[in-house]
Amino acid sequence: MSDTYSGDTTLGITGEHAISSTAERRAVVTSPGATPSREWVIVTRGLKREYDMGGEVVRALRGVDVAIRRNEYVAIMGPSGSGKSTLMNLIGCLDTPTAGEYWLNGVLVSKMEDDELARVRNKEIGFVFQTFNLLPRATALHNVELPLVYAGIPADERKKRAKEALEAVQLDNRMHHKPNELSGGQRQRVAIARALVNRPSILLADEPTGNLDSATSTEIMKVFESLARSGQTVIMVTHEADIAAHARRVVVLRDGLIASDDRREAFKAQVGLA
Ligand SMILES: Nc1ncnc2c1ncn2[C@@H]1O[C@H](COP(=O)(O)OP(=O)(O)O)[C@@H](O)[C@H]1O
Ligand SMILES: [Mg+2]
Repeated sequence: MSDTYSGDTTLGITGEHAISSTAERRAVVTSPGATPSREWVIVTRGLKREYDMGGEVVRALRGVDVAIRRNEYVAIMGPSGSGKSTLMNLIGCLDTPTAGEYWLNGVLVSKMEDDELARVRNKEIGFVFQTFNLLPRATALHNVELPLVYAGIPADERKKRAKEALEAVQLDNRMHHKPNELSGGQRQRVAIARALVNRPSILLADEPTGNLDSATSTEIMKVFESLARSGQTVIMVTHEADIAAHARRVVVLRDGLIASDDRREAFKAQVGLA
């Protein structure tokens, strides 16, 4: 595990914060059973997920230790089959691990039953996918309001919060447009607003630019950057290094383990993007 966070110490960044943050992260992931303090949105310890394929066991995650602070903007990278989606499903409370701990906002969720897990998921997690999954006949505003309808929020409050979420992605001037009247980038921004409207503690994005051209991808990355700057915790899966390099921290998975965990600058130097 000691190599997991080696990135932070090889940055050439001097100063208390970089060093203490590495030590703190190491301390928090290597204290089994201990409740993490509030600053840690996500802590996993020895997280494993195995799939039993009729006798043959697939070890998708083989012991992942990761600690993510409130307000961090993290990209998860790695080749196909390295365990990115498996990790996202666990972090997003869509699945439970075979072994290990997962603490979300100081609550141990790895042992929760499905119904309790679903409640945590609806409250804490906003999902953004590669396909936007918008209702074609509904306006942007209505699409964003929808999660609040399911949550039983009154109409006035719904509208107010949906407008705020659209403002956060700079789309308040397109509220009354339907998906087919919007560009691909604008549609993805509606989907991001919809993910934000419940005020989740984590925004999870799985290949959010997978269907977009490179100019539009950059536009969407700017949206995530501005959300992160305003205090939203963002975790994004991508297999593209130049997209990952927009995040402040890049975690690389390989064969179900963390291969590196670096700040953006170190990651860029490593992959030749600097
Ligand atoms: N539901 C599943 N059943 C069996 N094996 C799975 C399942 N989901 C993923 N796997 C296997 O686990 C490994 C990691 O998969 P995944 O997390 O989807 O990787 P990535 O998202 O990085 O491509 C792969 O070997 C994959 O075949
Ligand atoms: Mg995947």
